[in-house]
Amino acid sequence: MPVPKAELHLHIEGTLEPELAFALAARNGVTLPHADTAALREAYRFSDLQSFLDLYYALMAVLRTPRDFTDLADAYLERAAAQGVRHAEIFFDPQAHTARGVPIGTVIEGLAASLDRAEERYGVSTRLILCFLRDESAESALATLEEAKPYLDRITGVGLDSAEIGHPPAKFAAVYEEAARLGLRRVAHAGEEGPAAYVREALDVLGVERIDHGLRCMEDPGLVERLARERIPLTLCPLSNVRLRVIDTLADHPLRQMLDAGLLVTVNSDDPAYFGGYAGDNYDGVRDALGLTPDQLRTLARHSFEASFLEDDEPRRARYLAEVEAYTF
Ligand code: HPA
Ligand code: ZN
Repeated sequence: MPVPKAELHLHIEGTLEPELAFALAARNGVTLPHADTAALREAYRFSDLQSFLDLYYALMAVLRTPRDFTDLADAYLERAAAQGVRHAEIFFDPQAHTARGVPIGTVIEGLAASLDRAEERYGVSTRLILCFLRDESAESALATLEEAKPYLDRITGVGLDSAEIGHPPAKFAAVYEEAARLGLRRVAHAGEEGPAAYVREALDVLGVERIDHGLRCMEDPGLVERLARERIPLTLCPLSNVRLRVIDTLADHPLRQMLDAGLLVTVNSDDPAYFGGYAGDNYDGVRDALGLTPDQLRTLARHSFEASFLEDDEPRRARYLAEVEAYTF
């Protein structure tokens, strides 16, 4: 069994495997522009973040009913559990669905039906994080948070994703302020394709508690020092970085330097159906490419629970951490 871990950077829409995409297309009478699953997999050659996002949003056309979202989450949780995921904090992109006429309630209730049974069926505890699309307007983000208000008991926090460059965190100051007022936790993608300055801005203007990706903080030694001192977690996604050409190969990933700098880094899968692997595959990938020691792998697993939003269930966090310490590599 793989080391127990939390997954903190996972877009549920990015877990849509080609086989499920075609099954849902058939069920909903949606025609996909690809002939079959093999042809679809051929399209998974990305040149940058935007080239991935174009396909990611296009395939969402097959997600229409609550049951579609339930099936999607069930499929993810089963795969994640098999790779040692014990706790998952799951992103979803409501605007990508409401823009297609799928109500936010369909998305949240469909996901919740899966998450409600995840512990008993897969042994995975879960949280939901609502993400705003940063290439949409600040007003649209505020309207989305408003639409989510009837479901806030299901939502742990808010995040920020989609095309990063040209959409700095400060654009979303108002909606993050409102989210904080509502008692929601705050995270944001920053420093994936965008500059280290976006990481600083996410911390200073949005008040985020974790940075998603944050890879480019390494270009700013003062920022690295601050992230380490303030114990701000970074949710890294190594296979994603290779597939989206943020780095050339896994061997180029700065994870070791980040660990050496005392950063609270975690390893996650981002959009596993598109990037060639789930959480455990990402751990195996960096272990093999960077020659990580068992001690370093244990540190990554420990970090994942330390960085998780389990403040509402500290006994559970303690149990998970004890499982990590007891694990033999
Ligand atoms: N970056 C930004 N937005 C995203 C990603 C990502 O890796 N995956 C899904 N939306
Ligand atoms: Zn992401």
